[in-house]
Amino acid sequence: MQSPWTPATWRSLPIAQVPEYPDQAKLAQVEQSLAVMPPLVFAGEARSLRAALADVSASRAFLMQGGDCAESFQDFSANYVRDLFRVILQMAIVLTFESGVPVVKVGRVAGQFAKPRSSDTETQGNTTLPSYRGDIINGIKFTTASRTPDPARMMQSYTQSAATLNLLRAFAQGGFADLHKVHKWNLEFVQQSPQSDLYQALAKRITDALDFMAACGLTSKNTPQIGETAFYTSHEALLLQYEQALTRVDSLTDKWYGCSGHMLWIGDRTRQPDGAHVEFLSGVHNPLGLKCGPSLDTDDLMYLLDKLNPENDSGRITLIVRQGAARVEDNLPGLIRKVKAEGRHVVWSCDPMHGNTITTGGYKTRRFGDILAEVRAFFQIHQAEGTYPGGIHVEMTGQNVTECLGGGQGIGANQLSERYDTQCDPRLNAYQALELAFLIAGELRALRTRTAA
Ligand code: PEP
Ligand code: CO
Repeated sequence: MQSPWTPATWRSLPIAQVPEYPDQAKLAQVEQSLAVMPPLVFAGEARSLRAALADVSASRAFLMQGGDCAESFQDFSANYVRDLFRVILQMAIVLTFESGVPVVKVGRVAGQFAKPRSSDTETQGNTTLPSYRGDIINGIKFTTASRTPDPARMMQSYTQSAATLNLLRAFAQGGFADLHKVHKWNLEFVQQSPQSDLYQALAKRITDALDFMAACGLTSKNTPQIGETAFYTSHEALLLQYEQALTRVDSLTDKWYGCSGHMLWIGDRTRQPDGAHVEFLSGVHNPLGLKCGPSLDTDDLMYLLDKLNPENDSGRITLIVRQGAARVEDNLPGLIRKVKAEGRHVVWSCDPMHGNTITTGGYKTRRFGDILAEVRAFFQIHQAEGTYPGGIHVEMTGQNVTECLGGGQGIGANQLSERYDTQCDPRLNAYQALELAFLIAGELRALRTRTAA
C-alpha cells in the first residue's frame, strides 16, 4: 500500500536535477532555519489565484506569466523589480483592452532561482566543474569555490524573495498600478518605437474611458479595481529541500500549501511520473504548472493529471506547452484532443521560448520570428480544435538587453554581445515583450470577434 503524502515523501523517490551538497550538516541546518521562517505567500492568495485560473480555463480570463529565466543576486534592485513589474502590467493592459477579459498577472519572480541543466558538469579548457544551477544553489563564476553548492544560498534566496514580494505588493496596491498612470509608464528606451506609439494611443483611449467612468461616479477612491491590481508570483519548484522547508498547513482548510510562491510549476526535465518532483507537488494545494515539451506523450500526460489533479478541479493545472515553432503543429493537437476527450479541466498556456533556443557565435539565443510563429500556431491549433488558448508564459525583463534576435529593433547576431546579461536563457527585452503583447492582443481580438459572431 502507498504511504500517505507528507512534505518529505519525495525523499525516498528517484530525483532528477539534484545538486550534490558536500556539507550535509549545513544543509540540514539551513532547512531547519527556513522551516521556522514566515511563509512568503499565504494559502488564501494561492486559492485566489486558483480561482482566477479556473476562470481562465472557462475562457473568461487570460493568463499572462513572465519574468527572468533565472533571478540573480547580483542584478537585484528596486528598479530592476519595478521595471519588470511595469512591463508585465503594460502587456496585461494591452491584452485586457483588446480581449475584453481580465488578465491574470503572474511573475516568474520572487523565487525563480533554481535551474535544471542538460549536463551536470561544464568543461572549460582542461578544467571540469559542476554546472551552474542557479543562484539558490551555486555561483555562475567558473571556479571551484563558486560552483560548489552552498546551502546558505537558500537563505539569501528566501530573503531576496521576501524583499521582492514586499515591493511587488506595494507596487500592486500602493498606487503605482493605478490605471490613471498607464500613460506615464513608458520606459525611456521604448519611447521611439512603433510599440510606443501604439501603446500611447491605447493609453489615451483608457484615459478617455476613465474620464467617462469618473463622470458616472466611478473613481479609484470608490472602485479599488481602478487603483490597484492583483499580482501573483511563480517559479519552478526544482530545489525540493527549499520547497519542503517552506511548506505550511493552512489554518483555515488544514491543507498543505507550498508557501514559497503562489503558483509552482514542474519543469520539462523533472516531470518523471513516479519521480520526486511530481510526488512533492501532488500534495500541495497551490495552482500548478506542468511544462509540456516534445517528449511528453498522451499516456504520461493523463497519468500526471490523475496524480496531480485527481478531482479534476478547474484552476489546479496549467499546461505550459513548449514545443518549439517547428514541432507545435505536429505535437499539440494530439495532447489537446486527449485532454478534451477525457474531459480534463486545464488552462492551456503557450511558452514560445524553451522550444526555440539556438546557439549562434557562442551565444544561446532565440529568434523573435520563431517565438511569434509558435504563438500564432498555438492560437490556430486551439481554434481548429475548439479549445481555448488561455495564456502565455515568457522569459522577459524590463531592461534593454540584447539577448533575443529580431523584433522591431532588429537585433542582429553581431549585437548579442552588447547587453547579454542573462544568468541562463535569453529573454525578451521590454520592447520585444510589448511587441509580443500587441500580437497576442490581435489574436485575442480576433477570437472575441469570432465568438461574438
Ligand atoms: C524554464 O522555464 O526556465 C525551463 C527550464 O523550462 P523547461 O522546463 O520547459 O525547459
Ligand atoms: Co529558461
